Amino acid sequence: MEYNIEEIKHKLKKYNQEHLLNFYDNMEESKQNKLLEQIENIDFELIKSLYNKTKDGIKNEDAEIEPIDFMDKYKLNEDYKYYEQIGEKAIRAGKLAVVTMAGGQGTRLGHNGPKGTYDIGLDSHKSLFELLFDYIKEQNEKYNVQIPWFIMTSKENNEATVKFFKENKYFGYEKNIFFFIQGQLPMIDTEGKILIGEDYLIKEAADGHGGVYESLVKSGMVEKMKQLGVEWVFIGGVDNCLVKMVDPVLMGIAIDKGVTAAGKSVVKANPHEKVGAFCKKNGKPSVVEYSEITDEMAEATDENGELLYGESHILCNLFNISAIERMGSEPLPYHSAFKKATYIDKDGNKVVPTSPNAFKFEAFLFDAFGEVDDMAILRVKREEEFAPVKNATGVDSPETARELYNNFHKKEK
Ligand code: UD1
Repeated sequence: MEYNIEEIKHKLKKYNQEHLLNFYDNMEESKQNKLLEQIENIDFELIKSLYNKTKDGIKNEDAEIEPIDFMDKYKLNEDYKYYEQIGEKAIRAGKLAVVTMAGGQGTRLGHNGPKGTYDIGLDSHKSLFELLFDYIKEQNEKYNVQIPWFIMTSKENNEATVKFFKENKYFGYEKNIFFFIQGQLPMIDTEGKILIGEDYLIKEAADGHGGVYESLVKSGMVEKMKQLGVEWVFIGGVDNCLVKMVDPVLMGIAIDKGVTAAGKSVVKANPHEKVGAFCKKNGKPSVVEYSEITDEMAEATDENGELLYGESHILCNLFNISAIERMGSEPLPYHSAFKKATYIDKDGNKVVPTSPNAFKFEAFLFDAFGEVDDMAILRVKREEEFAPVKNATGVDSPETARELYNNFHKKEK
């Protein structure tokens, strides 16, 4: 591809990002081209508006937030069987696909590689990916199907992820595993300048799991799903080793109620647990994120003493394929996070910050929930479905996840 360097310089000047070419003249040609390609792909207007928004603070002020209705899986009584049968029929007919969002690295866990390749320290020493696959395999046998498994990686970890699967012979499931790559966005400093990474290219970071819908559509995965006869798609994270991706009751409820989305919740462990909470925002289903909820809302209770915003969003959501297409066609808002990011300064020195210095922008998958008219929320049991691995020690660590995983599997036997 030919680039018009003068035009590029002009554009950079307009957006006050001329420093991006500081090291251009001393780069090899292939790298120069890579840099120009990166620049051409940046939406500078978007970056400018994102930077301006970092100064505005928290954004919920103009939204009307209310609690959302939910059903409790274990209080459905005779309806349980009714929904289960509906869902089971659809699963047996091959209408379900599962998506695992695995764009993250294991950095917070001290693991140098894709989070899905992390070994949580079980006796089997299985990786998160393998634990998830064990579950898919078990469900395949139960329902006599081969559920297609779509794995979202990021540019940062795609190669390592695919290599890991190859080395593990795809757990014998190669023809049913499909990889697709999520999008990314440049990181900027507190002056709104785009950072240059250690490779002298633009420092980019995964743009959050909100990009999952668009990536599913753009990468052709939705088309693939349709060819396979899939109608329902479960989307979950890679970091929950008890994630139950195949749930006939959840699916039966969605089908029976005629909704195009359904999400599972667990009761918050405490008002300030670091999880998002399902809610209604301006009358539409949504999630209020832990970083954005006020103390007053987090602690509010109803007449029975239950938290009004106590239905944790555990990243276990089911969508009709039509909803994914709709959600994938609308841009989502970006949230900013202030992070530590190593970069190359204007004089060519590598800077390793000791405190946060840069903004990273992420779209959240639940910001798209407003695109669906209604969403069924099903409360499930934490000890059966939610064992996240987020921190190296303490809450939501390998230690807590191991214990939950072992207890669950002991009980099952
Ligand atoms: C997330 C949810 C929170 C929920 C909690 C449950 C967000 C913003 N918040 O918090 O509502 O209660 O999980 O565990 O999601 N991922 C990607 N690409 C990305 C970012 C994340 O694939 O760009 C994947 C990760 O690999 C992981 C999952 O999404 O599987 C969760 O991401 P993470 O950033 O760890 O979210 P949390 O802050 O823990």
